Amino acid sequence: MHENTPHIADRMADIQPFHVMALLGRARELEAQGRSIIHMEIGEPDFVTAQPIIDAGIQALQDGHTHYTSTTGLPDLREAISGFYKQRYGVDVPARRIIITPGASGALQLAFSILINPGDAVVLADPGYPCNRHFVRLVEGQTLSAQVDATTHYQLNADILAQSWTDNTVAAMLASPSNPTGTLVAEDDMRAMHNYVQGQGGTLVVDEIYHGLVYDKQAQTALSVADDIFIVNSFSKYFGMTGWRLGWLVVPEGYIDAADRLAQNIFLAAPTLAQHAALAAFEPDTMAILEQRRVEFAQRRDYLLPALRELGFDIPVTPDGAFYLYANCTKFSSDSYQFANDLLEQVGVSITPGIDFGDYRAADYVRFAYTTSIENLKEGVARIKAFVQG
Ligand SMILES: Cc1ncc(COP(=O)(O)O)c(C=O)c1O
Repeated sequence: MHENTPHIADRMADIQPFHVMALLGRARELEAQGRSIIHMEIGEPDFVTAQPIIDAGIQALQDGHTHYTSTTGLPDLREAISGFYKQRYGVDVPARRIIITPGASGALQLAFSILINPGDAVVLADPGYPCNRHFVRLVEGQTLSAQVDATTHYQLNADILAQSWTDNTVAAMLASPSNPTGTLVAEDDMRAMHNYVQGQGGTLVVDEIYHGLVYDKQAQTALSVADDIFIVNSFSKYFGMTGWRLGWLVVPEGYIDAADRLAQNIFLAAPTLAQHAALAAFEPDTMAILEQRRVEFAQRRDYLLPALRELGFDIPVTPDGAFYLYANCTKFSSDSYQFANDLLEQVGVSITPGIDFGDYRAADYVRFAYTTSIENLKEGVARIKAFVQG
């Protein structure tokens, strides 16, 4: 008998933790000891959820909205999102194709579970959002990591897909803007990738969670290219609702029943209070607050990007959006994990090492999140300067 050995399924050996969580834990420990820490590792807006959304949540609670909603979500919320696609992008997305989920995380889980048989492969960009490969692993699929660099704005394109695609590949996954690089996929590239994937009988899955946070241009949803693309989105980032756990998945017409059946089984419904609160997200007053916050993120990027470049970090592509800068730190270290640790221990600046986003040149890169005030960013830059020049 192995009474003390828990039985854990084999797949768990492939599920990696975020290294940044260890760094964050250490940062909190140092803070508890009285050290001042500048947090540039955290992947969520520092702003509290906009007041009209909070008020709508409180009202929903007082009105007794404490039961399940239908699995695919409140009809009014699905209609509001459909209206948002029309108003913001000029694209018709019928509400019946919009499935409300517990965060983009729930949407990713649905999409990969619907599309992947055991042994099927999905092409992903490295660097990229690490959870994707774990979602694929959970359904016994395989990931094909395609190495991307500044020459393609750290994004996949049709040529890379063609080089990566194998007989058992069923899907390609992209995020636009990307985490960790903040770069968008150009519309022509999206179209070319869609053509390629369609030609192979595969499916494109596009994560647009950072779409609201684009700074110099209006990003266009991949749904303007075709309506047979799976789109993942969320109230977490642009709408500032990370803790409410609410997102959505847009599925092509033929997948509505599958998504509904699967969601019934794995989460029944997304959080009811969050759904009622999110109805207020599309009101003009809320939108005005969200736009103001987007402008503030842009100002932070416009401060931090040149400041880091001046210190010697190589950031060859100006990120279009999200709130991240993916910076080459080889001028200072050949081991970005050690560099992130040293920065935290010695000058109290917390950043994310490249290893959290894949393998490709991970030791050369770190991610800076500008999810803190310009004042804090300035202090962070001063400390990094002291560290790299001292
Ligand atoms: C690219 C990307 N997709 C999905 C998620 C999951 O977001 P949530 O489940 O909070 O909507 C994140 C969170 O950081 C992300 O960066």
